Amino acid sequence: MPDHSRRVYESMLEMSSNVDNPTPLVRLRRSVPFQHTQVYAKLEWYNPFGAVKDRVAWSLITDAEARGVKLENLVEPTSGNTGMGLAMVSNARGYHFSATLSSEIPLEKRSALRLFGTSLIELKDELCPMPGQPEGAMAKAAELGAQPGWTSLNQYKNPANPEAHFRTTGPEIWRQTDGKITHFVAGLGTCGTITGVGRFLKSKNPDVKILGAHPTQGHDIPGVRSRRALALTDFFKPEEYDGVFEITDEEAYGLCKRIIQEESIIAGPTSGMALAGVLKSVPDAPGNVCVVVFPDNAFKYMSSFQRHLPELFPSPAAPAPVAKPFEAQLDAVVAFAENSPDVITPAEASRLVAAGATLLDVRSPEEIRRLGISNTLDVPLAVLTSGATQLLPTDYDAPIVTLCALGKRSLYALLLLKARGYRNVKSVAGGIQRWSEGGLPTISEP
Ligand SMILES: Cc1ncc(COP(=O)(O)O)c(C=O)c1O
Repeated sequence: MPDHSRRVYESMLEMSSNVDNPTPLVRLRRSVPFQHTQVYAKLEWYNPFGAVKDRVAWSLITDAEARGVKLENLVEPTSGNTGMGLAMVSNARGYHFSATLSSEIPLEKRSALRLFGTSLIELKDELCPMPGQPEGAMAKAAELGAQPGWTSLNQYKNPANPEAHFRTTGPEIWRQTDGKITHFVAGLGTCGTITGVGRFLKSKNPDVKILGAHPTQGHDIPGVRSRRALALTDFFKPEEYDGVFEITDEEAYGLCKRIIQEESIIAGPTSGMALAGVLKSVPDAPGNVCVVVFPDNAFKYMSSFQRHLPELFPSPAAPAPVAKPFEAQLDAVVAFAENSPDVITPAEASRLVAAGATLLDVRSPEEIRRLGISNTLDVPLAVLTSGATQLLPTDYDAPIVTLCALGKRSLYALLLLKARGYRNVKSVAGGIQRWSEGGLPTISEP
C-alpha cells in the first residue's frame, strides 16, 4: 500500500483515487452568491491521467481482468476522457487501445489520444457518442469488439462505470465532508458519476439531494449529453435523482471563466456547466454543504473557449506588411518625391530659367539631339551618378532645374544633387515632353 502522505509511488496506477487518496475538495468563495450554503468543487483532474474518467477506465479494466476476460485489443466509443484513461491504463498493462469517436471532438483531445498511443477511428457522430446511430461511434465499437481478440468494455452499459463512483468518488465525498453533505451536483454524460455517487450517498443518508446538469440540444460542451440523448442512456436514472437542470453553452462557458478568474481553479467547460446547475438548484440555507464535480481542467478545450469567450481571444493582428524588394522600395521613394514641392511645372521651370537658373538636362546626347532646349547644361544621369561634378555650379545655393524625357531621371538627379549639398534644386514634371506640349521653345535637329 503506498503511503499517500508521502506521495511516493512505484507506478502511476498506484495514484488511482480512492478514499485513502481522494481528489481535492476546494471551497468556492467568489463565484457563488450564497451567504450560508457551502459549495465545494471536487477537482477530478487530480486523477492520474487528468479526468474523472480515470476512475471509470481503471474500474472497467480491473473488473474485466477480475472476471478473467482475456484483454488484448480494447475498443471504446469515447468523447475523449474515458479514452485517455483507457489508453494510459492499457499502456501500463500492455493492451492495445482503439477509440471510436466523433470527428467533431476538439483537436486537442484527438491529438492527446494519439499521443497516448490510441488508434483513432473518427466517425460522424455527436460530441458525446449517440446511441442508435448505425454508422456512429457506438455501433463501430460494438462491431469491432465482436471480432476475435477484441473487447469492447462499453462504459455506457458496463456496471463497472457507476460502480467506480460507488466505490471511490462517493466514499471520498462522504468522508471529506464528514458526512455533512446535503447536495451533490454532477454534469451528465454516461451518468456513471451521478448514478454511482448518488446511490452511495443515498445509502448513507437518503436526504442528500442528487442533482444533475445537462446541456441544451445542439450544445457545444464536449463530454456531456442533452436531454434527448440522455433518454437513450442506460445509467440515466432520473427517478433516483432530485432534479435535472438544463444549462446553455453561454451559462456554462461564462461560469467556467469566472471559476478560473475568480477562484484560481483551472476548470474545463463541464465544470462551468455543473456549477450553473448548483446555482439553479441549491437553496441558500444554513447547514447546506454542496459538492459539485469538476470533471477535468481547461487545457484540452482552448478551441471551444475561443468560440464561446471571443472577448478573451482577439482576432489575430493584421499581418505585418511584406517587405518589398529593394528596387521596389526605391521606386516608392521616387513616387514619394514626385509629390514634393520641388517638382514644378514646365511653365514655372521656364520662368526660373529666364531668371538665371541652370537648366540641367540629364538625358543622353542622342535624345538631346533629337529634341532639346537652348542653353542647357547637358550632363547625362549616368555621368552624374558616377560622381562627375566639375560641370556643376560651384555655388551650392545656385538655382538648378533638372530635366529629362518624362520627369523620372530628372527626379533622380534632383535627389542626387540635394544629397551632394545643392540647396536650390527643382525638377520639371513630365520632362521635355510636357515642356514641348505646353508650347515652350525647343530646338531639334534639322
Ligand atoms: C469532461 C466531462 N465532463 C462530464 C462528464 C460526464 O460524466 P459521466 O459520464 O459520468 O456522466 C464527462 C463524461 O464523459 C466528461 O468527459
